[in-house]
Amino acid sequence: MLNSRKFTVAIASIAVIVVACGGSVATPSAAPIVATPSAPPVVASASPAAVPSAAVPVLDVKAITDSGASFSAMAQLKDLAAAGKGLVGVILPDATSSGRYISYDAPYLKQAFLAAGYTEAQFKIDNAQGTDATELALAQADITAGAKVLLVDPLNSTVGNQIQALADQNGVKMISYDRATFQGKDTYYISFDNVQVGKLIGQGFVDCVKAWNVKSPKVFTLNGGQDVDPNAIDFAKGYNSVIWGKSDTPKVGQTNSDGYTLVGDQVAPGWDNAKGGAIFTQAYTANKAINATVEANDGLANAVIVALKKAGVPAKTIPTVGQDATIQGMQNVLQNFQCGSVYKPIYLEAQAAVALATYLRAGQTPPSGLVNGTTADPKNPASVQPAVLLVPYWVNAANMQATVIKDKFIPVKDLCDAVTAAVCTAAGIQ
Ligand code: GAL
Repeated sequence: MLNSRKFTVAIASIAVIVVACGGSVATPSAAPIVATPSAPPVVASASPAAVPSAAVPVLDVKAITDSGASFSAMAQLKDLAAAGKGLVGVILPDATSSGRYISYDAPYLKQAFLAAGYTEAQFKIDNAQGTDATELALAQADITAGAKVLLVDPLNSTVGNQIQALADQNGVKMISYDRATFQGKDTYYISFDNVQVGKLIGQGFVDCVKAWNVKSPKVFTLNGGQDVDPNAIDFAKGYNSVIWGKSDTPKVGQTNSDGYTLVGDQVAPGWDNAKGGAIFTQAYTANKAINATVEANDGLANAVIVALKKAGVPAKTIPTVGQDATIQGMQNVLQNFQCGSVYKPIYLEAQAAVALATYLRAGQTPPSGLVNGTTADPKNPASVQPAVLLVPYWVNAANMQATVIKDKFIPVKDLCDAVTAAVCTAAGIQ
């Protein structure tokens, strides 16, 4: 049951250009939509011509979540998409820090645009391939091509701020996708609750230390790209609060009430998986007492697992954890080298992002059930921005069938071909 109602908005025939960027949705009996206060007054024409009425849906996170991987909620956006003008430019960050952008974000965003009634000419999805200059150039090209909304996952705050400034100068709405851009009071943010993502990683780690019977854990933590990505800072706040009892960066040598000792805590610069693997290899070579590890995503977990396998460490011995529920991560989980991963249903993030972009592109104020939260720069908590925040889940061998397989997030054939049918059957995966 989709939890959404439709307001029919009678749009008065307007003889002049309406500068409606974030204009409010007028109820049917209200006066015609007027331009935003800063724009020149709008003079309603005497034109008797009937104007097309546009049905503006009240589409919220719940309705999108309820319809889930069917993308059926997107159909409610068709009138709004038809009423809007211009391109939506999407720019993803890279293809290496995580498999997600190629495997999930790009195809799901395309599916959401098409399900919302966009033509292929009205949206453009690019990947910056890890290069700041490319990400900025793509944003400029989208604006030149008539973008009214940019949906950007910034490689770092420098290029994120440059793109926000460019969008602002050109009257283009900016949505910071998955990673925040804290510049600009009406820059929208859409992501999962990143501290909660970290807490799931921390709890998955602690449960696994117990399940794998790790005695007197000597813990090495490989953080995500905290040098470039505010999400990584929040992920760490989450897992540190669960493991060490407080969210700030733990000190090497620190212990907790369960006898865990932190023997290393390092950042993988820019989320670079190869650099993360080299950092862990150096630490493990120097200290073979390490018997439990925390990683901020599946790519980094896999880098650690490769190093452990090279050192001859058998499965179910040294816990690793991650996020993104990538197929690599799920293989490592079923083969008992990784305890689990945070499953972020990216098909929900993509649909919510397209819904938000569609409201903004049509000059409408997005409903509060969609923009359900806020975000703020940790360095400047007063700079609060509107946000769409979604719910993450922990996935391991026990619930893999009921989550990423059932949702068709992971192609079951590819997964079982990689780990063997017997391993899948043993985990109840079909
Ligand atoms: C984060 C994102 C995660 C993680 C990482 C690597 O910002 O939220 O899903 O995988 O980037 O790109």
